[in-house]
Amino acid sequence: MASNADLFQRAQAVLFQNYRTQPIALVRGEGTQVWDADGKRYLDFIGGIATVSVGHANPRVREALIEQSKLLWHASNLYVTEPQVRLAEKLTRASASLKRAFFCNSGAEANEAMIKLARHWHVVQGKPERIEVLCFHNSFHGRTMGALAATGQPKYQQGFGPLPAGFRFLDYGDAGQLEQAIGPHTCAVLLEPLQGEAGVLPPPRGYLARVRELCSKHGALFLLDEVQTGMGRTGRLFAHQHDGVEPDAMSLAKGIAGGVPLGALLAREEFAKVMTPGTHASTFGGNPLATAAASAVMDLLQGGLLEQVARAGERLSQRLAALSTKTPRVQGERGLGLLRALLLSADLATRVVARARDLGLLVNAIGERVVRLAPPLTVSDEEIDQAASLLAEAVTQA
Ligand SMILES: Cc1ncc(COP(=O)(O)O)c(C=O)c1O
Repeated sequence: MASNADLFQRAQAVLFQNYRTQPIALVRGEGTQVWDADGKRYLDFIGGIATVSVGHANPRVREALIEQSKLLWHASNLYVTEPQVRLAEKLTRASASLKRAFFCNSGAEANEAMIKLARHWHVVQGKPERIEVLCFHNSFHGRTMGALAATGQPKYQQGFGPLPAGFRFLDYGDAGQLEQAIGPHTCAVLLEPLQGEAGVLPPPRGYLARVRELCSKHGALFLLDEVQTGMGRTGRLFAHQHDGVEPDAMSLAKGIAGGVPLGALLAREEFAKVMTPGTHASTFGGNPLATAAASAVMDLLQGGLLEQVARAGERLSQRLAALSTKTPRVQGERGLGLLRALLLSADLATRVVARARDLGLLVNAIGERVVRLAPPLTVSDEEIDQAASLLAEAVTQA
């Protein structure tokens, strides 16, 4: 079998060099562990960037994939397929207000669909002037043109213009600013319930409820991007459930199918109904293999796993917080459930990630002062303790 070095070199020769790829090739995974091409084992505390929600090679998901693979791999939306219907039923049952689902293949696509839904809804209401989508600095919604236009990080946008118009940026967490900005031209307010790519940054308490209130008052759609925070990551099935608010639509992806590519848009009935035949589509959307996998993930989450996430998240939080008493290089930690950030006091994140990898722990850097951890939701207490001590070593040695 090819080695890490061989695969890394071949990748550099033939793949676009648009990623800062680590110099290892992963070949196999089981639960929270992965192995590289040289046979080295790692504790995977990034899980495909919050995607491997129920652990690598989860037996229930694997079984669902195998069973579906014997029946039908793809049919397109020219026809009904049962796995898609079953998953839509499970997701919409789990939401108090979002009773319709549309499936696609990624987070960016789910956000594209969500933005289109909001714009189109106003057009159908006879208010085509309501085009402005209020978004937030430091947000991340994906790399397609619409999602990129909504992303409040100029470094991702520069060099790709012109981007779609009608996106305006506000400070995340500042309800007063939103109150000033929202009005008769507002189409929607689009935000993450906790900003993931900004460094795992939660908003002030009560902020989401205030956004909901302002959207309702001004007739703007309240759109939540739960691509990173949804599907149990924060200890509730959807992160907004911590705040007791109900969005008008919500995008999902990442952990939804445990690592199989799938995105989803859920919306309230009244908004979903404007998406009539021809308004939007995806050839692969609702693919039977992906939706069968996601159904198995939902069963696991609702069969007791969700309850474990809050407890495991608390343990991880305590272990990370304790690192600040061991080294001045750690300032603290933050996050929700099993989406957490270790905050460094110096620009060391890339070096910490590299050192952790050498020690057998996979994590990732957001900028130079934040190390993100998003292990599979099935992570054990022992694995959390091991990861924390490996991270402590990595930080001191970096
Ligand atoms: C909040 C959020 N939205 C959207 C995306 C884009 O998802 P994808 O990479 O599947 O297009 C991401 C990816 O990191 C994300 O964190």
